[in-house]
Amino acid sequence: MEIPIRPRRNRASQAIRNLVQENRVTVDDLVMPLFILEGTGIKSEIKSMPGIFRYSPDLLLEECKELVALGIKAVVLFPALPDSLKDRVATESANPQGLYHQCLRLLKKELPELCLITDVAMDPYSSDGHDGLVSAEGEILNDETLEILARQAVSQAQAGADIIAPSDMMDGRVEVIRRALDEAGFTKVGILSYTAKYASAFYGPFRDALDSAPKKGDKKTYQMDPANVKEAIRELNLDLSEGADMVMVKPGLPYLDVVRALAELSDVPVAVYNVSGEYAMLKAAGQNGWLDYKKAVLETMTAFKRAGASLILTYHAKEVAQWLAGVEILV
Ligand code: PBG
Repeated sequence: MEIPIRPRRNRASQAIRNLVQENRVTVDDLVMPLFILEGTGIKSEIKSMPGIFRYSPDLLLEECKELVALGIKAVVLFPALPDSLKDRVATESANPQGLYHQCLRLLKKELPELCLITDVAMDPYSSDGHDGLVSAEGEILNDETLEILARQAVSQAQAGADIIAPSDMMDGRVEVIRRALDEAGFTKVGILSYTAKYASAFYGPFRDALDSAPKKGDKKTYQMDPANVKEAIRELNLDLSEGADMVMVKPGLPYLDVVRALAELSDVPVAVYNVSGEYAMLKAAGQNGWLDYKKAVLETMTAFKRAGASLILTYHAKEVAQWLAGVEILV
């Protein structure tokens, strides 16, 4: 007689379900992105990202202390600058006295155990709102941009960055940044490359947060076409050969197949960036009572692990850490 196979036996109780669970999200997997701005005592909410704020350096430190207390071990910083500090060549991006570098030094001094990941790209500092240098004809100049990115990366390392994360999508930037870091003596500073960064509509709320949308045109000559996956593998091979320590896929949820593809082919850890628009969607639906926010967020995080991500950059990081610690929070 044929033996009846019953998969439901492994789902019979919470204890059994926990025993057989294949993927689990822990606080160790999470990286919290944080927005910063000049001033003191400022914590201003981003309209399209309820619950996410821009912090002045003093309140950034307070927020990071809370994150560390919750077990979060890494943050990535993005600066919101006034137009008066933006120019064509992103001069402010390598200013050691600027807001960004000042925050790095403060966090490194006060919270030495917190891993500081820095964003490398021109857009928050560029009067054109592009990640690269724009020519008079409106072209995004690749090789001219590389020098600017390398200078930015080295200056961030000098201010205390542990990991440099280039998000610009210029060709050859990982190699140029690696060489510049090594020449300046920062052989221990790692590179987390935005390897497969797509030209996505899901970055909208982030561009509101930093007022960094392109003044003209779009980012399609450097960010990838959402229709492509072979191209992501090509970028992976390049980044590995140029010395990337970690590779990233961005956005997250609509690109889980790309996360899976890279996880299978990469011999370095794969990160995923659960971007601003993904956060905004779940938050809005949760606030309207259209879905169970906590369950939807945790399911999303689990999906990233299942797809093969080692680390998750997510605006939900603090909430997830609180839930994992057993703290119930109001959404
Ligand atoms: C740009 C950059 C972007 C994000 C991170 N770095 C947006 C863009 O490419 O326009 C988006 C992150 C998010 O949406 O959460 N260097």
